[in-house]
Amino acid sequence: MATAISPNESKTMIQQTRLLIGNRWVDSVSGKKFDTINPATGDVLAQVAEADAADVDLAVKAARKAFHSKSPWRRMSASERGKLIGRLADLMERHADDLATLESLDNGKPRHVALTADIPLSIACYRYYAGWADKIQGKTIPIEGDYFCYTRHEPVGVVGQIIPWNFPLLMQAWKMGPALAAGNTIILKAAEQTPLTALRVGELILEAGFPEGVVNILAGYGPTAGQALARHMDVDKIAFTGSTEVGHLIMQASAETNLKRVTLELGGKSPNIVFADADMEQAVEGSHFALFFNQGQCCCAGSRVYVEEKIYDEFVERSVDRAKRRTVGDPLDDATEQGPQVDDAQFDKVMSYVDAGKREGANLRCGGERVGDRGYFVAPTVFADVHDDMKIAQEEIFGPVMSILKFKDDDELIERANKTMYGLAAAVWTRDISRAHQIANNVRAGTVWVNCYDVFDAAAPFGGFKQSGIGREKGEYGLQQYCEIKTVMVKL
Ligand code: NAI
Ligand code: MG
Repeated sequence: MATAISPNESKTMIQQTRLLIGNRWVDSVSGKKFDTINPATGDVLAQVAEADAADVDLAVKAARKAFHSKSPWRRMSASERGKLIGRLADLMERHADDLATLESLDNGKPRHVALTADIPLSIACYRYYAGWADKIQGKTIPIEGDYFCYTRHEPVGVVGQIIPWNFPLLMQAWKMGPALAAGNTIILKAAEQTPLTALRVGELILEAGFPEGVVNILAGYGPTAGQALARHMDVDKIAFTGSTEVGHLIMQASAETNLKRVTLELGGKSPNIVFADADMEQAVEGSHFALFFNQGQCCCAGSRVYVEEKIYDEFVERSVDRAKRRTVGDPLDDATEQGPQVDDAQFDKVMSYVDAGKREGANLRCGGERVGDRGYFVAPTVFADVHDDMKIAQEEIFGPVMSILKFKDDDELIERANKTMYGLAAAVWTRDISRAHQIANNVRAGTVWVNCYDVFDAAAPFGGFKQSGIGREKGEYGLQQYCEIKTVMVKL
């Protein structure tokens, strides 16, 4: 499956492959580089400077210097800070086409999807937090005695941000937007699979005019650069998005070093519940989108589809039919709905879950195989007759594999929906308004969608219950996680 862009064109698209430290582009201290590949072809796109502990240390020093009380960033007015963030959003808008192509080349997601989802959502996130910069306010508190008591919402300080590869630009925006609005300084580590757009945004940050060292951007691997950042004694907070397994390691690193603040956005196994009274057409299409969007590589994917017995067979037939019609192919082609998985490791992981589903007796209704002879394409896959205790109903697959389960009554349903270590999202499809609210109240998840799925807005918080994470991103709640509260008392 070839891509409709020549190797030369993609070379010119990739402007930046070095590390951004203290507003300068530098090679790594070790001089090492790593390959980032195009998952549609398996070809090397570029070699990128590989950060390790020594580079993390330099970046933390630059960020600490930029956080000094007399630094240009700390002395800047809040509205000026907001203007800078807004300028970054404007520059991203101006370069939206190139950013979309680059995101598609490095990640494999369809270019037209990046252009209509990832990029506008990223821009909207920066604009939303640009607006917050001069609206971060404390309180005056009437305490006992002759005192004037007030709170200040101050930045946490130097924050490390570790992002995954599934939505590189958007995860960068969710992390950097609130951190910058609150006045923090940043060391962001991009995922090793998809470093290119984060570095491109680094160029736009320089163009926007952010002071030296406010944003530092590293590319590198988790166990090396990521761990060094999580363990660093001079980092005040780590914000992480990725696997639950690594989430545990991040907390451990904080506990073993300086108790840096930790916010985590981790995996999920989100129940997507379809009642017999739902609009069938809408529920089938919505559930298809809930699972297959972004090649199934969404932390909040609707990966356990619970369907009421009365409509189970019809729902399965329609879902299989829809999955068979899903167009898989060149991510640069506007007709493509699904590109490749991000890399060979994710491809192998997804295929191993397909095997597990077959082994455990789920009914493979379509897909389950590779598409094409190069790149990491997986055919849209649907399993019916899935049971709660099967591996494919318990573990995060992170690929285009839908599992459809059957339910009879509401009582057993909530218990089954909640029987997972995760709690990121859930959805319910029904015309019964009180039932929709009942489910929304009782399901243990950070986001519940009713007759819709994957609705995201910069103003609406997102995050997980249980092992899906700690804290919230986006909205005012997300901003709070980048502020320390200081209480000041003045004797009158
Ligand atoms: P991962 O959790 O290993 O990687 C995410 C980020 O963490 C990357 O930037 C990586 O370099 C970094 N990292 C890895 N190990 C680290 C460590 N010891 N210390 C500090 N940082 C570290 O996820 P991976 O291996 O890419 O994917 C594995 C599975 O994780 C996926 O199949 C999926 O189930 C889940 N995942 C969930 C995501 C989400 O959005 N919640 C995003 C990506 C993966
Ligand atoms: Mg790549």
